[in-house]
Amino acid sequence: MKAAIINEFGGPEQVIYTDVPKPKTKGDEILVKNVLIGVGKPDYLVRSGNDPYLKDSLPGLIIGNESAGIVEEVGPDVKNIKPGDHVAVLNGTGCGSHAEYSCAAEHFAIRLPEDLEFKSVAGILNLQVAYALLYDVGRGTDEKSLYIFGAAGGIGTTLVQMALDKGLQVICSASTDEKCEALRKLGAQKVFNYTKEDEKEQVLGFTGGRGVDLLYDQAAGPKLQDRMGLVADFGKLILYNWLDGDPGLDELDTIIQNAPHARSICSFSFHAYDDKEERRLSNADKVFQMIREGRVKPVVYKDLSLSEARKAHELLDSGKVIGKLVMHP
Ligand SMILES: NC(=O)c1ccc[n+]([C@@H]2O[C@H](COP(=O)([O-])OP(=O)(O)OC[C@H]3O[C@@H](n4cnc5c(N)ncnc54)[C@H](OP(=O)(O)O)[C@@H]3O)[C@@H](O)[C@H]2O)c1
Repeated sequence: MKAAIINEFGGPEQVIYTDVPKPKTKGDEILVKNVLIGVGKPDYLVRSGNDPYLKDSLPGLIIGNESAGIVEEVGPDVKNIKPGDHVAVLNGTGCGSHAEYSCAAEHFAIRLPEDLEFKSVAGILNLQVAYALLYDVGRGTDEKSLYIFGAAGGIGTTLVQMALDKGLQVICSASTDEKCEALRKLGAQKVFNYTKEDEKEQVLGFTGGRGVDLLYDQAAGPKLQDRMGLVADFGKLILYNWLDGDPGLDELDTIIQNAPHARSICSFSFHAYDDKEERRLSNADKVFQMIREGRVKPVVYKDLSLSEARKAHELLDSGKVIGKLVMHP
């Protein structure tokens, strides 16, 4: 079969489209004939060597973390999935999906309803994470408004749509005017380019000084302290990555300083669902219903051929992608 592999960690130039043996299932694994392959930040982390668990997998590591397709074969211990099922797979090993076929443990797969086209669930990880961030993690505030920093990516564009669907006022930012325009087109009420405009002025200005009930921050880093000041009383700042590194805060001081506003910081990982299968699947059903009803639609930046995997990684690294980048075998 064809696949995109790396022999060394590094930049997009390491991505090689080549022939490799078709994988075989064992134990609780399913073999999926991929129809759509998602390309995203986890693939950058694996390709560039930031994933400590994959150091011994070179050479010939098939990259790729997510795909959707049709089950061709199941291992002897698979319980709930059968050949012919449509599935989306978030490969728990972080690799193997940039290929015509990939194997994954059953619990990394979600069965897709057959009435939904594969392209309507492009970036299922984005859809699931956005749903979790809004409906599970974002509960318990006054829920009037939210601010998403760097909102033009796969999760951000989904979160914008879900928040608007929920009736929230959406403020978001991005690093280019092109990305800002795309966010305006999605319906966000306030959008600004954070490389040109001051975040505090924009967010507090738009909310009349009140701040936002939910602030979604994938960066952390030195700006975290100031961002806490953009959160309304009883609101939450929700971290879902640390792209800008350590915020350098004293945790106890931060908690105490924010006490008069009853603001909280919450850090989220999708691994919160690892032992909550029922909840994860029930959330997925709700996402599927949103798609059916046209309440959310993945923003697909480009659909490339798998043979263009290197180009996909160049785009990924360019910072220009708006929404989700996908490939098809
Ligand atoms: N917590 C979890 O369970 C979980 C699960 C999946 C993904 N994630 C994380 O969630 C984030 C969003 O995922 P995604 O799939 O939407 O990614 P994506 O499509 O690559 O979008 C990331 C966005 O982040 C913005 N950004 C802001 N600061 C950045 C920085 N320092 N470096 C790079 N990009 C920066 C970029 O836009 P601008 O240039 O316009 O700012 C970009 O649009 C990623 O960091 C991902 O690792 C978390």
